[in-house]
Amino acid sequence: MPPTDTVPTKSARRDEADTARTAGARRAGAPDAAGEPLLLRAYRGEPLERVPVWFMRQAGRCLPEYRAVRRRANLFEICRAPELAAEVTLQPVRRLDVDAAILFSDITLPLAAIGVELEIVPGVGPVIANPIRSTADLRRLRSFEPEEDAPYVAEAVRLLVAELDRPLIGFAGGPFTLASYLIEGRPSKTHALTRKMMYGEPLLWRRLLDALADVALASLRSQIAAGAQVAQVFESWAGALDPDSYRRFVLPSARRIFSGIAELGVPRIHFGVGAGELLEPLAQAGADVIGVDWRVPLDRARARIGEGIPVQGNLDPAVCLAPWQVVRERVDAVLQCGGGVGHVFNLGHGVLPETPPDTLRRIVEHVREHSPRLCEARNARAVQPDARAAQPNA
Ligand code: CP3
Repeated sequence: MPPTDTVPTKSARRDEADTARTAGARRAGAPDAAGEPLLLRAYRGEPLERVPVWFMRQAGRCLPEYRAVRRRANLFEICRAPELAAEVTLQPVRRLDVDAAILFSDITLPLAAIGVELEIVPGVGPVIANPIRSTADLRRLRSFEPEEDAPYVAEAVRLLVAELDRPLIGFAGGPFTLASYLIEGRPSKTHALTRKMMYGEPLLWRRLLDALADVALASLRSQIAAGAQVAQVFESWAGALDPDSYRRFVLPSARRIFSGIAELGVPRIHFGVGAGELLEPLAQAGADVIGVDWRVPLDRARARIGEGIPVQGNLDPAVCLAPWQVVRERVDAVLQCGGGVGHVFNLGHGVLPETPPDTLRRIVEHVREHSPRLCEARNARAVQPDARAAQPNA
């Protein structure tokens, strides 16, 4: 589908959704009879007619239309202009026809909004002028009041939900990941200073992590109040920790985030990279869904976190750089492993900037075309457990 100038209006899309329902409800975001989008049903583990699909970091540098906007404004300037933020959020929805939009923002934006001197340096990532390494430094970190400190975020969310015919995903950075940027002052491979504080100054660490959990919580509550229908916590760098340390030093703060938005009733996703050994404690933080990176097959992830918890993932983002034949095989393998229920197709981490957008579009089409068979077979097995027992080869 070529990019178009506008996403169709809600009423036009309602007609479309009606047509789609008769055509097997395979279009993006197609709600069921109760008006519930496919994505939300998948996050609840309900039976599906096909597997929904979106991509982490789907907006951004792999899209020429994003690069065109970026020539006029830097990352934070885009985030602070609701119309621009809404525009770049919609770009991948139009071009790729994914089942969800994810708000265009950054996990470090709330930190910048409360006065942390922070710059996204091209080719490096978030760089912080005065890292937090002592109790005195921590005093500089004040609480985050989204409606006052960053009103443009909720405004972008409101613009988007008025426009979109599919769910909008809100997000925040996990406490360990934000702490790592604040302590190291820049992206780190080892997270050595971060772990040094964690082990060496546990009281300071606890205060920092609780403060960051409160930043994430305030941010998510505000996005949800403005209309975001899903909340994802990107605890991207948690994989630097062993399970016991994660449990001791991070899990209590993560719990604070998930329990703080529990009553709002939106699906809550917890995602970490290189976090295979942490899947159980990540799930214990209270999320409804676990995002799995590409290193752990989805069936093995499920065996670790419990069969009842839906999973999201987990195609290796680098596969998208390979020829289509290879991509297709790998997509099929992920779908197969996901089993056609309690699965939302995604990459195992963000889209790489060098990804051809056309490959992403073909993946969406492929999932849409090929997952219904898998879902049908799965649904048939679910309603006929006796028949399955009688035919061991079925
Ligand atoms: O569609 C989308 O997902 C885009 C919205 C989005 C951005 N950042 C915009 C962005 C999201 C969901 C994020 C999350 C984010 N930011 C994470 C968690 C996801 C992950 O990849 O693990 C992390 C760790 C960050 C911190 C961050 N921001 C880094 C490490 C970088 C530089 C590296 C990179 O990928 O470019 C950024 C900058 C950034 N955030 C860009 C975008 C589109 C690219 C820079 C630019 O356009 O100027």
